[in-house]
Amino acid sequence: MIPIKDKVGIAKMREACAIAATVLDQLKHLVRPGVTTQDLEEAGRDLITRLGARSACFGYQNGSRRYPAHTCISVNEEVVHGIPSFRKVLREGDVVSLDIVVWHDGYVGDNAFTVPVGPISPGVEKLLRVSREALDLGIKQAQIGNRIGDISHAIQTHCESNGFSVVRDMVGHGVGLAMHEPPEIANFGRRGTGEKIKAGMTLAIEPMVNLGGFKTKTLSDGWTHVTADGLPSVHFEHTVLTTDRGPDILTIPRPL
Ligand code: MF3
Ligand code: CO
Repeated sequence: MIPIKDKVGIAKMREACAIAATVLDQLKHLVRPGVTTQDLEEAGRDLITRLGARSACFGYQNGSRRYPAHTCISVNEEVVHGIPSFRKVLREGDVVSLDIVVWHDGYVGDNAFTVPVGPISPGVEKLLRVSREALDLGIKQAQIGNRIGDISHAIQTHCESNGFSVVRDMVGHGVGLAMHEPPEIANFGRRGTGEKIKAGMTLAIEPMVNLGGFKTKTLSDGWTHVTADGLPSVHFEHTVLTTDRGPDILTIPRPL
């Protein structure tokens, strides 16, 4: 069962998501050659605190491991859950995925964006554009009466028809009182499958798209997912509220 948020829950989701989006937006502007992913982590951590929220990543448990940072920062072949490091220096031509998830007043807001570092190759430029479009097309399918698989299908077809592949090992998800709620929202699938979309669902839609093959592996740190072929990967994510007037993107930055 996909949780349905009531009026109060929706108001709180709006707040948590606005904070997550504002942090992400500010971090985007700090990306440039010479900056380390640890610099971005520290800026993100401080901003989250200043906005009265908490990182949902810090201490997040996967088996016996706890995620050690407040942000996830994944460079080039890193798909998601890259751990920030002072050894990781951004260079021109890189792509850096920033994933910000915050708790505020009992609710979680989740969003991600991939930023180019200076000029990048035309192929990766296209990967960024197509993946952003795929997120938009996925969001457009988050309509009452549609099914979750309609979102998945829209994302997959757009990415694959442009020669890219979608990651299979990780998926989007419901979000709200926890970072991960039902349903799973794969970035691949068939139209007309999965649960029916109703008003009041809050969905984290998040295409992870690879320049090469879809296969990924996890590094020995237990968190960082990388592409198996070492080619770049990008990640775009919004938290979206379903309404009878269509999808409402909650992760939009605003003055707080
Ligand atoms: N947006 C990521 C997700 O939904 C955030 C993960 S936080 C981490 O999985 F702690 F697991 F890295
Ligand atoms: Co997510």
